[in-house]
Amino acid sequence: MITIAIAKGRMQDDALALLARAGIRLSADEVNSRRLAVTDESGEYRFLFVKPGDVPVYVEHGIADCGVVGRDVLLESEADLLLPLDLGIARCRIVVAAADPEVLTRAVGMLRVATKYSQIAATHFGSRGMPVEIIKLSGSVELAPALGLADLIVDLVETGRTLRENGLTVVDEISESTGRLVVNRASYQLKAHAVGQLVNALRLALNGGERA
Ligand code: PRP
Repeated sequence: MITIAIAKGRMQDDALALLARAGIRLSADEVNSRRLAVTDESGEYRFLFVKPGDVPVYVEHGIADCGVVGRDVLLESEADLLLPLDLGIARCRIVVAAADPEVLTRAVGMLRVATKYSQIAATHFGSRGMPVEIIKLSGSVELAPALGLADLIVDLVETGRTLRENGLTVVDEISESTGRLVVNRASYQLKAHAVGQLVNALRLALNGGERA
């Protein structure tokens, strides 16, 4: 059996839809349940539904053989994983946003950056030689500029609605992010056949094919 850790939240529905197109389906009962570990209809795959940031942890430790998680999370993680496939799902951008569109050009002194993504932010501003103070938050980062906690945020944008409705605009783009298949190094060797089948089925589904 292959165990796949799926990032809960924005990734989950797209991941399950893609897996279904690859012939790996959960029963309606499992989909509608609150169970965090479930088995697919064939009994060949077990899914673990975990917080996005925990997917690399489960996979690196070999508790899950594979995972589906956003590139944003992987950029933030130091886990040593194989990344055989860009699944193209849950596409979004990692951006720098602010209330003042000119904040970067007007900046005097050190700017404060609120974010869940402290590694990504540190790398981004470090590569530009901009000293910043990074304020790590767990979510609802868009609140920080309006409340005076930060001058900038680094966060994900999908539709742009959260930024707009909190009076923020994009002032710089860091990167795109999509869902990736990640694989544990040992599973890739020891379960080569089963992992290979999964990768091929997903690749076929991505190319428009569908397994019965
Ligand atoms: C993400 C992200 C933004 C929002 C962007 O939050 O952090 O807040 O989605 O989506 P939009 O551009 O379509 O409005 P998420 O829902 O993952 O929750 P969070 O507050 O925990 O970051």
